Amino acid sequence: MSKSYFGVIGLGVMGKSLSLNIADKGHTLSVYNRASKGEETVVSDFLKSNKGLDNIQGFTELSEFVNSLEQPRKILVMIKAGPVIDTVIETLIPLLSKYDTIIDGGNSHYLDTKKRSDLLNKHHINFVGAGISGGEEGARKGPSIMPGGNISCYNDIAVVLESIAAKDKDGRSCCAYIGPEGSGHFVKMVHNGIEYAEMQLLAEMYQMLSVFMSNEDIAEVFEFWNKGRSASYLLEITANILRKKEGDNYLVDLILDKAGNKGTGSWSSKAALNLGMPNNMMSAAVFARYISSFKAQRVLLSKQVKKQEDKHVEISLTVLERAYYFARLINHHQGFQLIKEASVNYNWGLNLSEIARIWTNGCIIKSELMETLVKAFNTTSLLLDNRTITNDLYANEAAVSETIQYTLANRMAAPSFSAAYNYWVGMTTEQSSANIIQAQRDYFGAHTYNRKDAPLDTFFHTNWM
Ligand code: 6PG
Repeated sequence: MSKSYFGVIGLGVMGKSLSLNIADKGHTLSVYNRASKGEETVVSDFLKSNKGLDNIQGFTELSEFVNSLEQPRKILVMIKAGPVIDTVIETLIPLLSKYDTIIDGGNSHYLDTKKRSDLLNKHHINFVGAGISGGEEGARKGPSIMPGGNISCYNDIAVVLESIAAKDKDGRSCCAYIGPEGSGHFVKMVHNGIEYAEMQLLAEMYQMLSVFMSNEDIAEVFEFWNKGRSASYLLEITANILRKKEGDNYLVDLILDKAGNKGTGSWSSKAALNLGMPNNMMSAAVFARYISSFKAQRVLLSKQVKKQEDKHVEISLTVLERAYYFARLINHHQGFQLIKEASVNYNWGLNLSEIARIWTNGCIIKSELMETLVKAFNTTSLLLDNRTITNDLYANEAAVSETIQYTLANRMAAPSFSAAYNYWVGMTTEQSSANIIQAQRDYFGAHTYNRKDAPLDTFFHTNWM
C-alpha cells in the first residue's frame, strides 16, 4: 500500500467527519482508533461504511499507522481534550521522526497547548493547536479552523486544513494561521465564550416570548429576525428546535432544564479575570448554566415564591429585537477585546479582522454581525471605538432597559441581557461609585488612593479614624 499524505487519530464523531471531509478533498489518509474494549470495530466499521473512498487506510496498531504516513508526517489528533492527549503524545514521540507534525484539533486549554509544544520542540517535532468549530456537520462539510503554533509548522499542513474548511462569502478558506503558542486554542476558547453568551441570550429571549407566545409563534419570530441583521446559525437552529415535535408534544417542552458544559466557557471567563477584562456576559452565561444545574433545590425553593398576579406588561417584538441586537454587540465587543488583550499580553500579534473572517462560516457563532465585524476590525481593534457601533448601542439602550423592566415585572432571570446593559451603562458613566471602593480600601488596608485634584502618579493615604 502506498503511504498516506495525512493521518487522523481518533474516530469519534468529529474525527470521523473530518476524516471523510479530508478524503473527499482527494488527500490520501490513514486513520487510527484504539481497539480497546467497546471500540474493537470502530475502524473496520468506518472503512466498511465508506467503501467508496479508496484513499483511506485504517489501523488499530499505532506503529503501523505511523509507518503508513509519508514523511514528514502530518497527524491530526481528534480525541477528548485533557490528560489523554498527553498520553497519546508520549506514545507517539518514540515512533515519530524529526519535523513530523502533530495537530491537536480538540478543545484543549491554551496553556496545555503551550506546554505540549515546548515538550515536542525538544524532540524536534512540530505541534499545532488547532481550534475546530462547527460540530459534526461542520466537520463533515466545512468547519472553521483556528490553528496556532509555529508558522513554519502551519505551512506544512495548510494545504489540508485550508481545503477542508468552510469558505467565506468570497470563496476564501475559513482556516487561517492564528498566531504562535496556544493562540489558536485561546481563540477557539473565546469563540466558545461568545457562543455561551449567544446561546444564553436566545434562551432568555425564548423565556420572555413564552409569556405570550407559543413555541410555533416564537419560531416564526426567530425565523423573521433571521432574515435581517440578527441572522445567525444559533438563531436559525433555535427556531428549528422550537418547531420539533415528538408525537403531540414539542420536544423542547420535554427536555430537562439543566444545562451541561464541558468547561470552555468557564476557561474563557477565567482567562478574562486573569487578564483584567470585564467579560461579564460570558461569565453570566456560565453562571446561568451552573444555576440551572441546581434543579432539585430550585424546585424546592420555588414552592415558597408567592404566586404573582399576572404582571405581563406589554412589550413589542421590535423592542425585543433591538435589545437582542444591542446585547449581541456587547457580547462580541467583549469577546474580541479579550482576544486583543491576550494578543498584547502574550505578544501574539493576532489579526482580529481575520479571526472575524474565519468565523463568518463553518463555526457555531457564524452570523450576519460577524460579516460587519470583519470590516469594523479593519479600522479599529476595539468595537467601542467604532462610531457606527456605538451609535447603534446608544440608539438601542432604551430597548434593553425596557426589556429588563419586562423581565423584572414577570419575575424572570435575564442575566445576559442585564450584564450587557450594566456593562454599557458602566462604560458610559463618567462618574462611577469606585471612589467609595477606593476610600474603603484605604480605610481598612491603607491601600491609598488617587485624587481628582492631583496627578495620577501621586498616592494618598488618610487616617480615617
Ligand atoms: C464548536 C462548539 C463545540 C462544543 C463545545 C461547547 O465550536 O463546534 O463550541 O466545540 O459545542 O465543546 O460545549 P459545551 O457547551 O458542552 O461546553
